Amino acid sequence: MLKIAFTFGKLEVTDNLDLIFNGTPLHPQSRKLNDLAKVLMDPTITDGRSGDTILYKMYREAILDKHYDLFTKNILRFDITIMAPIVLGEELNKTLGHSHPEAAAGLSYPEIYQVLYGNACFLLQKLEKGKLIEFKVIEADAGDAVVIPPNYGHVSVNRGDMPLILANLVSGNFTPIYGDYLSKCGAAYYMLKGNRMVPNPSYGSPPLPIFSKERYHITNDLYTDFISDPRSYAFLNDPTKLGKATFFDNR
Ligand SMILES: [Fe+2]
Repeated sequence: MLKIAFTFGKLEVTDNLDLIFNGTPLHPQSRKLNDLAKVLMDPTITDGRSGDTILYKMYREAILDKHYDLFTKNILRFDITIMAPIVLGEELNKTLGHSHPEAAAGLSYPEIYQVLYGNACFLLQKLEKGKLIEFKVIEADAGDAVVIPPNYGHVSVNRGDMPLILANLVSGNFTPIYGDYLSKCGAAYYMLKGNRMVPNPSYGSPPLPIFSKERYHITNDLYTDFISDPRSYAFLNDPTKLGKATFFDNR
């Protein structure tokens, strides 16, 4: 059992990726090996595992009852995702991948992630008229927060050898779009052990990945920062309010 305390609450995580939040077990949506097969570099890989093997569990609206109205009024959702430290063949465990719909003219909804535990990598990709024009790789460790800017699809990768626990704060106004990732067998690059990136042939000749250490500034933790100053997160529903000053480079 993994126990981690934050200002916003106490997380207990079992070996089965179950989450107990401040003493209350939460109900997850699980993604299994079978669900991810279509987006893996080798869709037939099992490494002897059953197709029902759970790769990650998502806990939607992992919030305290007393903050429910605050999140609802601001049309924001706080979720927690827990990813197993599984490697499939050479490929690191990852989320299915999705993009967001448009929130303002030409700008899709942004999102903020914070790594609560473990080592992550975020794979961001931008397409124009179906063609990949940019692929960004952002490594992040416990405490680091990263913004998914408008118009980038994204995949989260567990690049560590322990469970990865991610928090995300995002608009409650939309449902994610999985289509591109399912029809193109995943993102434009697959991330393998040893930080190796392998291009996905479905994208033709994609531009080379750009490695970035761009961060979103967090004072305490994402949840606590939000409840302390909800108005500063208005850009999650109105991306025209997202300023460049929000980011800094951690290199
Ligand atoms: Fe997202």
